[in-house]
Amino acid sequence: MYPQTPGRPYAEVIGDPIAHSKSPLIHGFWLRALGLEADYRAIRVAPDDLPAYFAARRDDPDWRGCNVTVPHKLAALTHVEDRGDIRGTIGAINLAMRAEDGALIGANTDAGGFYAPIASFDFAGKPVVVVGAGGAARAVLFALARMAVGPVTILNRTPLKGAALLSSFGLKGRALPLSAPLPPAALLVNASSLGMVGQPPLDLDLSPLPGDAVVYDLVYAPLETDLLAQANDRGLETVDGLEMLVAQAAVAFELLFGVEPPRERDDELRALLTA
Ligand code: ATR
Repeated sequence: MYPQTPGRPYAEVIGDPIAHSKSPLIHGFWLRALGLEADYRAIRVAPDDLPAYFAARRDDPDWRGCNVTVPHKLAALTHVEDRGDIRGTIGAINLAMRAEDGALIGANTDAGGFYAPIASFDFAGKPVVVVGAGGAARAVLFALARMAVGPVTILNRTPLKGAALLSSFGLKGRALPLSAPLPPAALLVNASSLGMVGQPPLDLDLSPLPGDAVVYDLVYAPLETDLLAQANDRGLETVDGLEMLVAQAAVAFELLFGVEPPRERDDELRALLTA
């Protein structure tokens, strides 16, 4: 454990493994940029140690909360109040934080982080394709339902999982296997792990997409995935995974530390994250 200076606020990201997490880099950059006297660090918490972690932190007045990553995104819900019915919607939290009344509550900033980079587009009523039906796809579908998009086609190795997600988010559309040809869409999102370093590639023929389509890949390692390279070659608008990563962290930072992060310094932050 780290030495903690009494009176100095801190937040953490907990997971197992945790060494790969980029959250300390992002939050640390913003804390330094703002000159805030606070810390953000990564702590490996094994699944069996999760109750002890929350028991130890819950009454620490310096602890502002924690980001929660794999494998705790669901289990952490049992240690916080679920005031936003996250269990019944996105189904996982990525943040435990203090409410105004001091209670420890669960939050999920992934849906907001997904939406932020595409907030200037209007996809209402327009067809969307989502690849994947896991945890990341749930946050994407939650946001898409709020955006009132048109029919959603989910492409997934296990189409049944996609069909279940469509109905649970009240979205019109269909779920198809990954081998199905891509239907025309205004927005294509990769919310699967395909295309990530060490994972199989995502093989899609983008030719059915119109010239004004947006291609959004949640994968950020590599930063330019084959999917984004192909979209760039076709002259399509692209959004990479670092944009969502930084945007979900920005929402969390404000909830944890009570100030907006300096987003005008995103170029420096991206350079740090890709160094
Ligand atoms: P995350 O929290 O990152 O979304 P996840 O919940 O494990 O992780 O979901 C991973 C997604 O990538 C799922 O859509 C998964 O397909 P299944 O629903 O069929 O499991 C997809 N995925 C992972 N590895 C895959 C592979 N080798 N081939 C095809 N799809 C894969």
